[in-house]
Amino acid sequence: MTESVREKLSWDTIEYIETVPNQFLIPEHHWPNFQNTSLSQNEKIRLNHFACFFMCEMFVHFERLIIEYIKIHENIVSKYLNERQIRRFIDEELDHIHAFQTLGKIIRPDLYLPEQRFLIPNAGDRFVIKHSPPGVFFIMAALFEEMTVFVYEVMKEKLDESWKPVLDVMHLHALEERGHISMDRKVADGIREEKGAFRAGLQMTMLLPLVAYSDRRVAGSWKKAASFFADSEGFSVTKKKEILNKGLSRSDLLGMKSFADKISEKPITGTGSLRFVLNKMTG
Ligand SMILES: [Fe+2]
Ligand SMILES: [Fe+2]
Repeated sequence: MTESVREKLSWDTIEYIETVPNQFLIPEHHWPNFQNTSLSQNEKIRLNHFACFFMCEMFVHFERLIIEYIKIHENIVSKYLNERQIRRFIDEELDHIHAFQTLGKIIRPDLYLPEQRFLIPNAGDRFVIKHSPPGVFFIMAALFEEMTVFVYEVMKEKLDESWKPVLDVMHLHALEERGHISMDRKVADGIREEKGAFRAGLQMTMLLPLVAYSDRRVAGSWKKAASFFADSEGFSVTKKKEILNKGLSRSDLLGMKSFADKISEKPITGTGSLRFVLNKMTG
């Protein structure tokens, strides 16, 4: 991170304004599926706040899983990352979790729970954390982190629909995530070097099912969350149906594309099918 940005932006100096404006917090075009619905403008704004709350919870969820994974498998991770890097990775994720929780608490204080309301860790998540090989887990982490980086890029496309506290959090988050993505890559490359292409490739057969699993987890949790939102708004069946499928957000799409480009430029053993799927989904 450059010094000038660091001076202006730090986790201690972000201004969390307590009054949430009656306007989009994240540009409307970030969730293309919600743009062409029959919701009124005010309903679209409230949905935008709710989706932003859900996104904060989703980031908290995945970052907690990353920390847990590193802690459980520290003996393996420490073969590829030194102690300082591991410490930094965890400390930064803790800062991020705190920032996303703070945003969530301000945006929907009535819904906020420290232990997550809609995306509650379940047995499947615990199984993934316990049993994913590090080569697979860190590729998934890199893909997720790449997608989070692009939230800030999408917000910059429409600053008049970007609320400053969210924008600042996403900006600083994106800067720090770039460091995580290179650490993820370091682990993946280290495994390839240590195990050789064949054995590293074998681990990777778990990659696509795990990516599909986390995709389903998010889609399923959103469905529950959206249904809750629709009921609390007294939506008709039609309106409810329109918001149940969140679909790919613009940052998901840009992050997936960018990730596919990265693994095309500098291939990682066993990620060919993931690259194929990502290209298909974003094509
Ligand atoms: Fe993070
Ligand atoms: Fe991260």
